Parts: sequence; structure tokens; C-alpha cells
Amino acid sequence: MSAVLSTQTTRSILSNSGRRAATIALIHRLYTTASAEPTLKETFSQLIPSKIDEIKQFKKDHGKTVIGNVLLEQAYGGMRGIKGIVWEGSVLDPEEGIKFRGLTIPEIRDQLPKLGDEPLPEGIFWLLLTGEIPSRAQVEQLSADLASRAELPEHVVNLLNGLPKHLHPMAQFSIAVNALESESKFAKAYAQGVNKKEYWKYTFEDSLDLLGKLPTIAATIYRNVFKDGKLGAWDPQADYGKNLATLMGFKNKDFMELMRLYLTIHSDHEGGNVSAHTTHLVGSALSSPYLSLAAGLNGLAGPLHGRANQEVLEWLFKLREEVKGDYSKETIEKYLWDTLNSGRVVPGYGHAVLRKTDPRYTAQREFALKHFPDYELFKLVSSIYEVAPKVLTKQGKTKNPWPNVDSHSGVLLQYYGLTEASFYTVLFGVARAFGVLPQLIIDRAVGAPIERPKSFSTEKYKELVAKIESGETKVV
Ligand SMILES: CC(C)(COP(=O)(O)OP(=O)(O)OC[C@H]1O[C@@H](n2cnc3c(N)ncnc32)[C@H](O)[C@@H]1OP(=O)(O)O)[C@@H](O)C(=O)NCCC(=O)NCCS
Repeated sequence: MSAVLSTQTTRSILSNSGRRAATIALIHRLYTTASAEPTLKETFSQLIPSKIDEIKQFKKDHGKTVIGNVLLEQAYGGMRGIKGIVWEGSVLDPEEGIKFRGLTIPEIRDQLPKLGDEPLPEGIFWLLLTGEIPSRAQVEQLSADLASRAELPEHVVNLLNGLPKHLHPMAQFSIAVNALESESKFAKAYAQGVNKKEYWKYTFEDSLDLLGKLPTIAATIYRNVFKDGKLGAWDPQADYGKNLATLMGFKNKDFMELMRLYLTIHSDHEGGNVSAHTTHLVGSALSSPYLSLAAGLNGLAGPLHGRANQEVLEWLFKLREEVKGDYSKETIEKYLWDTLNSGRVVPGYGHAVLRKTDPRYTAQREFALKHFPDYELFKLVSSIYEVAPKVLTKQGKTKNPWPNVDSHSGVLLQYYGLTEASFYTVLFGVARAFGVLPQLIIDRAVGAPIERPKSFSTEKYKELVAKIESGETKVV
């Protein structure tokens, strides 16, 4: 297959390759089944009855146990800390950081199947859905399966090609994912009145179709907005990270490794963050995985959430321009104070839950130390790391003065030539799909209900508070 193709040519190539890949995926599936290694769908299917029983019994035995108190200030404070979501894939500890099914980031980097040094994101998807570490053969089978689903319907390609270049890549991303609703197997099955016990199977198929198509969407946006509209080669036998890189036009093997690491560590961050919670909430109305993920992506596009990775780069470039090569601690400290004193946040620092350096930051720092310790922008990021926590602590507002994931990711991408910062949140969105889709499948498998928490007006809260404080009403 040629290295660079127009989107139109790619459409037909993907179509041919899609058929080829489907055959390869089928062979892989037959092979793995024959070698007694269950596929992801089979593995998950076997787990469902015991999961349903576990939840049923847990609710029966402990359903009335009080698991927290809600303060009025939490209702006005973005519901911070209120427990009320079930999220199986990961739990975020303020001190230890994220744990995926109980495993820390260093542990998943060590234990998930790899091609080089970094874990394959296909493996994190498997782990998040099932709680099990897949074998190398199982992950290879999943790679081939996802690659066989890469083709976009013609109307989505035309839609993307017709969007104006000045439309933010995240808006384009969300539009394309919404438009894929035309392909939803869940929506079709629901319309035909399928039994609710079967919902998960269609949600599973939609989720894998969606994951398979995300690299093609992301690369089409990247090539249309910033390059010549021609996609790189797509290989039905390649893993997800390699295909994402090559479709965007990147051939460097270390960049492919970076993609694998990036997708894995950005996948999941428990259920309360905006993108995860939104996907879960919209999915609870039985909207398809396409509509649910698109909603989550719109949340990820906000500057306080996923778009912070773009903001960090813009902020770094302004710093570089202003200090003209003087990266002394004093100069950086002054720039940080100027940012804070002008009423802005320091992008890439702080977190709603974490109270230490984000282990996702540390993993990316380790990658940079290994591959390009002398890169100018990496050194700048490292110098800021030495100064910013002290400045933020001195200012005394943020509860967490330490860097988060977005503080580092852009610099890694810059090094390999992916310099267009407004595209960065799209990559985050591709990764986030690996975390939120497993929960959507689990939700359908265990029959999770529609979400409907209670809201009050300020007037009603005042009435409630007065009654509670006078002893007229008990808190229940
Ligand atoms: C992530 C973030 C939204 C969490 O918000 P939060 O849970 O409300 O954080 P806190 O409780 O620590 O906020 C308390 C105060 O500190 C401020 N603060 C938090 N992080 C800050 C930062 N990086 N720079 C300056 N001020 C910050 C908040 O704006 C808030 O100020 P206010 O009282 O005037 O409204 C916040 O830290 C932030 O805006 N960071 C920068 C953007 C970013 O990196 N986002 C990506 C997150 S992964």
C-alpha cells in the first residue's frame, strides 16, 4: 500500500483493505478460538452472570448502608467528593493516583502485552472491561479485529471533508462521531425491540466499531486541517498505536511507542470526570455508544478538562517568547506570578481529586528522559516542575499544586513533529474512548438504570436547611 493517499483514494483502499482485514480478523478469531484462548467478547460474556449476582447480593445485603454525607457546599461546589457513580474500570486515589482494576501505571506498563517497551492500548481496553490481563495472542486478535473496522461510511468522510478548517478539531471530532450514529447496531436492535438482556452485545459491537474508526477520523481531521488532506498508509495487520501514527503520516517507531503509551495512560480516570461522567450519563438514557461518546468528547473539549493540553502548549510558547532563552528559576517564577495575577490558571497544574504529581505526568517524563533528555522544551517543562508547585503553594488557592497529565503530553508530541496544539485534545479523545466504552458495555450488561439525581433551587435548599437546622426534618 502506498505511503500517502488522498482521502478519496483512502476511502476505496480502506474499503478493499477493510475486506482484507475482516478476513484476517476472522482467521485470527478462528485461530485463537481453536487454540482455546477466548476472545474478548467470549471472556466478557462469561463474566456477566457472576457480576450481576455480585451486584444483586451486595445491594440486598448492604443497600441501606450510608456511604457518605452531603454538605450544602458540595452541592454548590461541583458535587466534589460526593459518592454516587459506579465505575468498575478504575479508581483514583488522591495520593497514589489512578489504579486500573487495582493496577498502578508502573504496574500496567510492566504487565500489559507489548510490542516494544510500552503497553498496547488494546490491552488496557481488555483489562478495563474484564479485570483480566489478556495474553499476547488475545491482544493480537483484538488488534486485528479493531483494524478490520477502520473504514468510515462515505457520508462521514464527505462530512469531514466539507468542514471548514477553522472549526476546532474537537468540534469536528464530535460531529463525525455523532454522524456515525447511522451505523449503530444498538440503535437498530433497540428499534426492533431486542430483549434488554441482549443490549450489551450490540453495545459491545458498536464500541469496537467506534474504536476501530477513531484513528481514521482523527487522522482525517489532522490531515485535512493541517496538512494536504492525504492519509498515511493503513495496515490491517498492525496494532492500534502504529495505525494511528501512520494514518496521521508519522513513521517514526518511537512515535508509535509514544502513541501506545499515550492512549493507555489517557484512557480512564475513574467515572466522575466530565468526559467519563457525561458518556455514562448520556448512555444511561440508552443513547447509543456513538451519541454517548460524542457527548463525552464535547466535555473533554473544555479548557478545564482535556483542552488543557492545548492550553499548556500555548502558555509554554508565550513563556518562551517572553523570556527569550532565559529559563532561570527567577524568570519562570515571575512568569507564573504574572499568569496568576492576571486572574488565569496555570494550565497543566492542579486536580480535582489528586493531591500529588500525577503518575501519568511521571510516566511521560520517564519516556522523555529515555528518548530525548536534552530536548529544549522538555528541559523547560522540567524547570517549571521545579518552580510551579512552590509558587502555587505560596499563592494558597489550589488544593493541589502538582502537575497533571496535560502538563507533559504536548511536549512529547512536539518533539516528534506533531506541533499543532489544537489537535492534541483529539488524541486525548481517542484515548478516552478506551476507558469510557468498557463502562458503557458493563452498564448494559448489568442493566444499569437511567441516572436521575435530585436537584433543588436555592430557595428550596434554604427551606431544607432551615428545617434540618431547626430539627423539623431529619436528613435521610
Ligand atoms: C483541574 C482544575 C479544574 C481542578 O479544579 P478544582 O477542583 O476546583 O481545584 P481546587 O479546588 O484546587 O481550586 C481551588 C482554587 O484554586 C484555583 N486553582 C486550581 N488550580 C489552579 C491552577 N493550576 N492555577 C491557578 N489557580 C488554580 C481554582 O481556580 C480555585 O480558585 P477559585 O477559588 O478562585 O475558584 C484546576 O486545578 C485547574 O483549573 N487547573 C488548570 C487546568 C488544567 O490543568 N486542567 C486539566 C486537569 S487534568
